[in-house]
Amino acid sequence: MKQGLKWAAAAIAAACISAALPFAIGHADDAALASPIFGVKIPAGYRDWKLIAVGEETGLDELRGVLGNGTAVKAYQDSKTPFPDGTVLVKLAWKRKPVDGLNGAFITGPATTVQVMVKDSVKYAATGGWGFGRFIDGKPVDAAQHETCFACHEAHAKDQDFVFTHYAR
Ligand code: HEC
Repeated sequence: MKQGLKWAAAAIAAACISAALPFAIGHADDAALASPIFGVKIPAGYRDWKLIAVGEETGLDELRGVLGNGTAVKAYQDSKTPFPDGTVLVKLAWKRKPVDGLNGAFITGPATTVQVMVKDSVKYAATGGWGFGRFIDGKPVDAAQHETCFACHEAHAKDQDFVFTHYAR
C-alpha cells in the first residue's frame, strides 16, 4: 500500500514537471525569435498591413513588398519625418518566378527573407531611432548581419529618416 502511494506521488510529480515544461520551452523559444542586438520580432498580423510600395533586387533575383502599420501609413500620408515612435515597417522578399511561355513576365516565387524596422527613438538612439530584424523561415539571422543594417540605411537613406521606400501612390 505504502509502496503504491509512493509510486502515485512520483507519477503526480512527473506529470507536474512535464506540464510545466512546455511553458519553460515556450519562453526559450520567444527569446530565440528576437533579433540579436535589437531584440526585434516579426510583428503579429503584419501580413494584413497596408502596402507602402514594392521593390526589386536584380542581383538577388528578388521581388520585394514593403508593408507598414497604421502609424507608418499615417506618417507617409502626412509626409511626416522623422517617423514617430511606434512606426513599424516590414519588407518581404521573394525569388522572382518567370511565367512559362511569357518572356519577361515574373510572379513571386518562394519567400526568402522578412525584414523589420521598428522606430523607438529612445531605445534605438544609437541607430537613428531604428531597431532592425532580419528573419529567414521565421528565425532571426546572426548578429554579424544585424551590424550592417544601420550603416547602409544611414549612408543611402538619410533624407527620409533612414528609410529608402517612398509611398507609392
Ligand atoms: C547594403 C545596403 C543595405 C543593408 C546592409 C541593409 N539594407 Fe535594408 N534596405 C536597403 C535598400 C536599398 C532598401 C530598399 C529597396 C528594397 O526594398 O530592397 C532597404 C529596405 C529595407 C526595409 C524597408 C524600409 C526601407 O528602408 O525602405 C527594411 C525593413 C529593411 N531594409 C531592413 C533591413 C535590415 C533588418 C537590415 C539588416 C539585417 C538591412 N535592412 C540591411 C539596403 C540595405
